Amino acid sequence: MRFTIAIDGPAAAGKGTISKAVAWHFGFAHLDTGLLYRAVGAKVLAGAGPVAAARGLTSEDINGDLRSPDVADAASRVAVIPEVRAALVDFQRDFANRDGGAVLDGRDIGTVICPDADVKLYVTASAKVRAERRFLELEAKGTDLTRAEVLSDVVARDKRDAERDEAPMRAAGDAVTLDTSGMSIGDAVAAAINHVKLARHVG
Ligand code: CDP
Repeated sequence: MRFTIAIDGPAAAGKGTISKAVAWHFGFAHLDTGLLYRAVGAKVLAGAGPVAAARGLTSEDINGDLRSPDVADAASRVAVIPEVRAALVDFQRDFANRDGGAVLDGRDIGTVICPDADVKLYVTASAKVRAERRFLELEAKGTDLTRAEVLSDVVARDKRDAERDEAPMRAAGDAVTLDTSGMSIGDAVAAAINHVKLARHVG
């Protein structure tokens, strides 16, 4: 059985949590494609060239702490490079087409990686809400950043992701938008699962 769910959206919108929960609910595999770009970004911070880093990416590169703001920023800088994106396409498409169902989350899954996905969700929330969620995550890990700094990082990264020429962040024409600004994470997960159930029933 092949069934692909594409979940896109801006930084810290809750894509990761929703994708994991949806994958768990349906017994599908999950790929956080942001980790691929973060791993390339981390290698670049360590001195590698971005294209070579993307072409030589291995599963070990995905381990380790890739969730820092510096790595997120480096990820969005390498993500504008067409050769970097091209190097990561086959892996993502193979994952999407695996037997047993797959959930992929990122920025261009519904538009570029899996334009024929069975379900497409665009998960978003106001910049203020997303920055607050990211701030709380970072605070729990002991960040020195202020709320205002986290907000300006999130806004700058969204702008870079939305305005790049190659595979810019945007909702696919046939995606359903889920604005989680006023929702608890539990409500957002339930809404996403309901949407998938409906699509599976209809499809
Ligand atoms: O967790 P968060 O939403 O903050 O970011 P992420 O999903 O881990 O993605 C980190 C960065 O990778 C994004 O800001 C994008 O620049 C890039 N990315 C991308 O270009 N395409 C994807 N499919 C996934 C991530």
